[in-house]
Amino acid sequence: MVKIAPSILSADFANLGRDIQRVSSAEYLHVDVMDGAFVPNITLGVPVVQSIRKCTDMFLDVHLMVDKPVRYIEAFAKAGADLLSVHLEADHPKHIAQALDIMGQCGVKKAVALRPITSPNAILPYIEQLDMVLVMTVEPGFGGQSFMENQLDTIRQVRAIIDRYNPACELEVDGGVSPKTAPLVIEAGANVLVAGSAVYGTPDPAAAIAALRG
Ligand code: DX5
Ligand code: ZN
Repeated sequence: MVKIAPSILSADFANLGRDIQRVSSAEYLHVDVMDGAFVPNITLGVPVVQSIRKCTDMFLDVHLMVDKPVRYIEAFAKAGADLLSVHLEADHPKHIAQALDIMGQCGVKKAVALRPITSPNAILPYIEQLDMVLVMTVEPGFGGQSFMENQLDTIRQVRAIIDRYNPACELEVDGGVSPKTAPLVIEAGANVLVAGSAVYGTPDPAAAIAALRG
């Protein structure tokens, strides 16, 4: 069963409560945090997650595109995140491990994210404790980019690692997911699909969510 995670990056931030209600048929709400350092763009931070938590019961899947994310795990957990994903490229492995430990202590689900350049094997030190692996199918930073087809092989390799070491772990794909590319990523082994422009770029987000399920 495939889960859909609409990304509010493509929502209207001046009408965020309304735009969150519009995607309530989805399983997860994907929240992109960008710091202007790990990625060139700046989006939102802890206070916004706090406000989102007050206006929805949806599962909050918070994607941290920030340098040294270990500094912010506790704050985002307290703000109401249900799951946090940290990029493996954002700090030294020992600090990534520390970030995952703090997630465990705070009672939030644990995920690691991979930029397109990163080898699937980079998840091996953490795989047994993860709830999710996030594979980027665009260079992180902006919505509305084209899907990178060569990442299908990365998805397949991550799926093989998950099946071998932690079959309960979810595999989320983020970037350029549309009704056209969704069947490809599902076939490659993804079970959670992030979609920003494919959901909010249409007049009927609920229909777009249904279309992504295929
Ligand atoms: C990009 C973000 C994505 C973004 C996806 O760095 O991580 O979550 O919102 O947008 P689309 O679905 O438009 O590619
Ligand atoms: Zn994202």
